[in-house]
Amino acid sequence: LDQIFTPIGDSLPLVSQDLRKAAIIGAGQVGMACAYSMLIQNTLDELIITDINQEKLEGEVMDLVHGLSFVEPSVIKAGTIEDYQDLDLVIITAGAKQHPGESRLNLVQRNVEIFKSIVPEVVKRSPNAILLIVSNPVDIMTYVSLKLSGLPASRVIGSGTVLDTARFKYLLGQKLKLDSRNVHGYILGEHGDSEVALWSELHIGGSRLDQLIPNWREPEVYDQLDQVYNQVKNAAYEIIQRKGATSYAIGLGVTQIAQAILRDQNHILTVSSLIKDFYGINDVCFSIPAVVNRQGVERQIAIYPSDEELAQLRKSAQLLKEITSGIGF
Ligand code: 2OP
Repeated sequence: LDQIFTPIGDSLPLVSQDLRKAAIIGAGQVGMACAYSMLIQNTLDELIITDINQEKLEGEVMDLVHGLSFVEPSVIKAGTIEDYQDLDLVIITAGAKQHPGESRLNLVQRNVEIFKSIVPEVVKRSPNAILLIVSNPVDIMTYVSLKLSGLPASRVIGSGTVLDTARFKYLLGQKLKLDSRNVHGYILGEHGDSEVALWSELHIGGSRLDQLIPNWREPEVYDQLDQVYNQVKNAAYEIIQRKGATSYAIGLGVTQIAQAILRDQNHILTVSSLIKDFYGINDVCFSIPAVVNRQGVERQIAIYPSDEELAQLRKSAQLLKEITSGIGF
């Protein structure tokens, strides 16, 4: 077919080597929602997707590339472990998924075994990549990936409570009849049943909750707030009960984290990262607000939880530590 073209010169090296190249490991509902969301938001120049189920992978990638003429151009390929070269970002979504009613923590043993076979292979081929862990239980898998990879803590990030924070903003926005982007609040700690709502730092617009509603700790107000927290905490159970998995919102959340990294945005996000000297909490991965940029999780930002919130965060850390040491990490 080459005869239809007239060459105009020898091919030269690329003008810019600075392409944004990433891989997604796991072409399940979460991996593909991440791929689709990143594609339509022009997040990457090149994306390799891999999965143990070759046939499904091929089908998913064919379906995705057939839409390329509708969006900004990028290269998307079904690949294998051998293609993990020169990656800037590796997003791991592979692993066992929750059944209805099952806790994220239940997946730990199965997913640790899978990660033992993935993480060292990635790091061998792309030692400069940033790892973004999405598989559950995400905080434990982030810690395990940190240990398995030997990478600096700034380069191993978990999606953490980015999604829970988005659910919190949405649900509070609904309750207050406000755009969720005007609700500035955080869900912190474990991405799971021990997560913590940081009410004491919640801002609506520019004002703090205790300025707007000085009596917010009294039961008639607090019960309404607690209802929102419970809806956030149980959101995944509710969705899995109905449709078997969650995917769209995590796909959008992962895109936001990927853009913070690849566009060097210095975006404060509630990603999961290694905690050091945080009110006496050490050596565990969970979510506190952190600055994400081309370095990965570059800095964590100071927060001022109430005594009660701090006690909840300590409990969340303790739970994660017990599980992590129980599996030998
Ligand atoms: C979620 O929260 C299941 O962790 C997943 O949607």
